[in-house]
Order: sequence, then C-alpha cells, then structure tokens
Amino acid sequence: MTPKKAQASSTHGGTHKLWGGRFAGGPHPALEAVNRSITVDFRLWPFDIQLSKSWARALAKAGVFTGAECEAVRAGLDTVAARLAGGEQPIPSDEDVHTIIDRLLHEAAGDPASRLHTGRSRNDQVATATRLWTRDAIARVDEHITALQRAIIAQAEHLQDAIMPAYTHMQRAQPVSGAHWMLNHFWPLVRDRERLAAAHRSAGVMPLGSGAIAGSAFPIDRELLRTELGFERISANSIDAVGDRDFIADTLYAITMLGMHLSRIAEDLILYGSSEFGFVRYGDSFSTGSSMMPQKRNPDALELARGSGARMLGDLVGLLATIKGLPSGYNKDLQEDKRSLFDAVDGMLLLLPAVAGSLETLTFNRDKMAAACTSSMMATDLADYLVRKHVSFREAHGAVGALVREAEEKGIEMTELPSESFVNAHHAFESDVMHELRPRTSLSHRDIAGGTGTKAVAAQIQQAKAAVG
Ligand code: ARG
Repeated sequence: MTPKKAQASSTHGGTHKLWGGRFAGGPHPALEAVNRSITVDFRLWPFDIQLSKSWARALAKAGVFTGAECEAVRAGLDTVAARLAGGEQPIPSDEDVHTIIDRLLHEAAGDPASRLHTGRSRNDQVATATRLWTRDAIARVDEHITALQRAIIAQAEHLQDAIMPAYTHMQRAQPVSGAHWMLNHFWPLVRDRERLAAAHRSAGVMPLGSGAIAGSAFPIDRELLRTELGFERISANSIDAVGDRDFIADTLYAITMLGMHLSRIAEDLILYGSSEFGFVRYGDSFSTGSSMMPQKRNPDALELARGSGARMLGDLVGLLATIKGLPSGYNKDLQEDKRSLFDAVDGMLLLLPAVAGSLETLTFNRDKMAAACTSSMMATDLADYLVRKHVSFREAHGAVGALVREAEEKGIEMTELPSESFVNAHHAFESDVMHELRPRTSLSHRDIAGGTGTKAVAAQIQQAKAAVG
C-alpha cells in the first residue's frame, strides 16, 4: 500500500510530479514538451488556489483533514498565492498550473499538502478553475462593453441635430439623424451583453466533486463548495461535468458576435473617415501615421477591430472542432480549450478600449454629412406626399421615378426642377412639394417609435441610457 516511489506525489530529484508512480522511467522529453500546458494555463492560478482552499474545507468536513491540517493547508495556499502574485515563475518540471501550486504548497505546508488531492482530480479541478476564470473574464468584458456603450450615447447626444444619409446597398437611401446612425451600433451591444450573461450562467455549474470521472469517493459537501465558490448550480453527472466545455463555446460565440459588431462599427467609421466621405476625423491620439507618406492619418485601431472578428471566429471554430466527436468524459484534447478561450478574451480586452477611445475622440463634420443628403434621397418622401393626397403608392412611385430620371438627365437636383416638371409628373403635386424635398421634413415624418424623427431619437437615447444603467 505505501508508495515506494515518492516522486509520484512529492518533490524528488528537483522535480515534482502529480503522477508517475506506475512507470519504471520518466517520460520522454518529447512527451513532456507536448503535454506541458503551464505556459497557457498559468493564469488560472488565483482560481485554482481559491477552489483548493474550499476543497481543503470540504475535506475537513469529510473527516480527511483535522481542523488544524485544514488551516495549515489553507494558510499554505495563501503563501503560494503571495509567491505567485510576487512573480514566482514555473520551473521546467511544472507540467501545468495545478502542478506548480502543488509543488509550492508542499514547500509551504509540508506533509498535509500531500492529502489535499484526496478525492479530486485535475479533471474536475481544471474544469472548475476554467469556469471561475471565465465568469471573471465575462464580467471584465462586460464592463468594457458598457464603457463603449456610454461613448456611443455621448456621441449620439452630440449628433442629435446632425443629419446624414443612411445607406442601403452602400447607396444613399434616406436621410437620418446622426444620433440615429450612431445608436444603430448601440443595440447590438445590448444583445452581446445578453449573450455574455447567458454564457456566464452556462459557466455557473460547478464540476468540483466529480473527481476524475465517477464522482469523489469521500463525503464531500458539494453545496458548501458551490456557495463558497459562487456557483449557481452543481453538476448533475460527473461524466458530463469533466468533459463539458459548452460554456467555453458559449463564451466564444458571444465574443465572436461582439467582434462582428465591433467590425461593423469600425467599417462605418473607416468609410466615413475617408476623404470621399469626410464625415469624421480621427482624433490625434487614435490616429497613426505612415513611414512614407507624411500626410497620413490612419485609423489603425479601427482596422484591427474590423479584422479581429476573424481571429475570434477562428477560436470558436477551433474549440468546436476539438470537442466534436470526443468520447465521454475528460480527454487530453480538452487541454486546448484554454488556448482558444484566452486568445479570444485577450483580444477582446485590447479591442474594446481601443474602439471606445477611437469613438470618443472622433469629430464629426456636420456640413459634409448634411451636404451628402441630396434631393434624390427624398424620393420616398415625395411618393409618400402623393399618397397623403390619396394617390396609390404604386402610381406615386412611378411619378417620382420620372422626376428622378429628369433631374438626373439634366444633371441637377430635384429641388432645381421647375414646378411644371412636378405637375407633369403628377397632377397632385402642388407648390408645398418643395418643403417635402428638405431632409429635415423627411425626419419630421418619422417620429414613430424606433424611427429617426427628433422625438423618437430623443426617446431612444433615454432607452439606451436605461439599458446601461
Ligand atoms: N492541464 C490539463 C488541462 O488543461 C489538466 C487536466 C489534466 N488531466 C489529466 N487527466 N491529465 O486539461
């Protein structure tokens, strides 16, 4: 019963392993190299310490530790945390984050440290630590989204009296309030936050107590663990619990969608900042220059935001490909989960402040925005004008189409057409038609909820403010 090979669980010959007792020799360096995950999972340490401290308490309640041993291990874990926070680095034999913590705990607490791993496995441990990390990360991403939402609202408030074209098929379509365009980027972020909240809930199931696959053989109070660690539920099936990475897929999907939305904000601003549009100018602190062309003012942060969705999508697809077809329970393939998760979260935490900053420091050129609202964009309003005079929409559409063609052929704006042209196009046109050709009149017809009318947009701003709290 007594293990002769002490290196199976304790420091020996300068190395410290959590396994190895059943092998005659050590692992081949090529195996060690491919198996080692500490460069990726090291950042889990605060959560691994946290769950280990709770585990020590559960073991004491189960009669595995005396009260004194439990306290010694918990104090030892605090010492380990202090060393890691102070910059303690892994040594080559530290296979993963659990190994380095175990090694340092043996140094800090001595013998009782050898019993901390009773009834648990790195399988339930890593799943638990990754869930704790994910919940914390989601909260951080959420804060940054809120900051971006606030920046959007602030710009929208400035743009309430600005008027600009809205585009369909990237062709000038209809005039809208600048605030309405700005806020069109607000609501997708509300949905992103809902998706992240759902991922947070999905990560809220605690696997600890599942052991390697069949459940712990000691009377562990999982409910105690759950409340101490802040989980919402405990897993119902230990086989599922150690192999479930749905919460990572959920998180990556939410982040990918967020990346898509940032890419769309970025693309609008990149287009609008071009000389051809000239609607916005990037602030100095969020512009980059060119090594060759002295005149350049480049929106690098926005271009990176436009491109980033691709990387996050790659992380999501990579994870899904890893999970697909895995047999039940824990498989080492799952070690790759954290690479995707951390990459996507790290990328997003860099992007969000850069997009918010780019947005906050923009200046809008209202004159250019207004000048782009050419008269043909009021064609729908002219048709609506005829409809209000009891002309059918089909007939009105045809009459206005003829006016648009005439102005185009003459190379003038519809506002420059003589009144005869209007009457020729349709007898229901009267002198008040010129009023309909003003972009602001177009807006004034659209005070419908969700529309671009001044009152509707003011209400939308209030709704947006309420959504960020
Ligand atoms: N480093 C591993 C991972 O990230 C920890 C779990 C290892 N479990 C095992 N049975 N080898 O997945």
